[in-house]
Amino acid sequence: MQKVKKLIGVMDPNGFSFRTSFEKLIAFLKPEIEYRGQLHEVVTQRITTRPYDVLNAICPYSAIINRGAHWNPHHNSFFMTVGHNSYLLNDMISFLSINKNTSYGHMYKLGLRIPTTVALPQQDYTEITKDPKANSELIFSEHEPFDLKSIGEEVGYPAFLKPQSGGGWVGVEKVSNYEDLLNTYNKSGDKPMNLQKAIDYREFVRTVGVGPQMMPMHYNAKAKYSHDRYLRSEQQAIEFDFLSEAEYDEVKKICKIINAFYKWDHNSCETLIGFDGICYPIDFANAYPDSTLISLHFYFPELVKAMARWMIFCSVTERKKSFNFAQDWNRYFEIMQNEELTYREKLDLYEKIADDHFETKKFYEFCAEKMPDFDEKAWEFFAGEEFEKILTKEVEYYFKIQEERPGKLAHYKGIHQFWLNCEKDRLSQGKK
Ligand SMILES: Nc1ncnc2c1ncn2[C@@H]1O[C@H](COP(=O)(O)OP(=O)(O)O)[C@@H](O)[C@H]1O
Ligand SMILES: [Mg+2]
Repeated sequence: MQKVKKLIGVMDPNGFSFRTSFEKLIAFLKPEIEYRGQLHEVVTQRITTRPYDVLNAICPYSAIINRGAHWNPHHNSFFMTVGHNSYLLNDMISFLSINKNTSYGHMYKLGLRIPTTVALPQQDYTEITKDPKANSELIFSEHEPFDLKSIGEEVGYPAFLKPQSGGGWVGVEKVSNYEDLLNTYNKSGDKPMNLQKAIDYREFVRTVGVGPQMMPMHYNAKAKYSHDRYLRSEQQAIEFDFLSEAEYDEVKKICKIINAFYKWDHNSCETLIGFDGICYPIDFANAYPDSTLISLHFYFPELVKAMARWMIFCSVTERKKSFNFAQDWNRYFEIMQNEELTYREKLDLYEKIADDHFETKKFYEFCAEKMPDFDEKAWEFFAGEEFEKILTKEVEYYFKIQEERPGKLAHYKGIHQFWLNCEKDRLSQGKK
């Protein structure tokens, strides 16, 4: 049988544990997959930062993990030049045009329960006034004065004032009344903002998607440090079945639909489940979903595995993705306009379009037929020395205070051992 090499390019300069675990897992699995009369040998190669010939750029990769090109135009232009010959996860066409704000508007139209949100122009124009090419008289005469007080009343208090572009909680402030809002807006700087009604919630769920695979995790927004936010509490690392079946189903559908709508392969969706039982998505346009071991601990191996399955599938089957990310929108909007359908019925129908896009059935059949022992082998990798080295190194990279490290190492090793035990039990019970 003819042997073909399939190369997965990996670009994630800031993501040591994620990219290294992905690469080492693939190297450990040594996938050799029979598909359509050929034997596909899957390997990875790091995409480093280097000069390239713009006019003759070539792409040796059958698939690319792109985590970071939204910060780096050098990488982004390379990916956009060669990306049509590969499977690019994620491309920046939609991520650069769809931000938190735009996606709120679209998803609300589809019927998702986005809290009331009003977009406010940026507060500080100092940069423009300093630019000799900009005529401030012309620019400012185009600005309409607005009544912040009535906008605050329309949205209701408490509310969150946060940048439309989003990311890492930077510039996110809770405001309780008009005075608060005015002061906070006056200090908000040169970023256009959103004022959004605060949701009083029972559960904060962060779902990470990779292709059609959705992983909901509990999230504690009150934890002081971001690396503690996926811990259930100070005493308990994780809680299984923290949602009802219907809630799991809903948050997973919401994330899958959003990802398929914009053709995002890897994105996260933050959903607040209110005391009223309603699922409110509040943050779901994320070109660089947090995927580090330090944050995700117990959930980390499953995320790496999800990425490995999806990338192997995309490169072996030579999956193609249209750069026209809006091509299915009319199908969604037709369902949206049908007034006889309930919210749940609409979600089910949107999900069908999403599953068409992700080839969900084909993907899971591929996993079952072509990689039947994937979980068992992945377990061996995560139980092995190579992964222990990654875990140790990641703790050293992240925790800068030397004296803190032994305690943190024990903490992460303990949780990881718990994952190994749980996964071993699951596999021995024949659960898939
Ligand atoms: N409408 C809201 N209701 C309740 N909490 C919110 C709301 N909007 C933001 N928050 C809180 O602020 C945090 C940061 O806001 P988010 O929209 O996720 O911005 P970022 O893109 O910076 O992550 C959220 O994780 C949540 O804890
Ligand atoms: Mg967020």
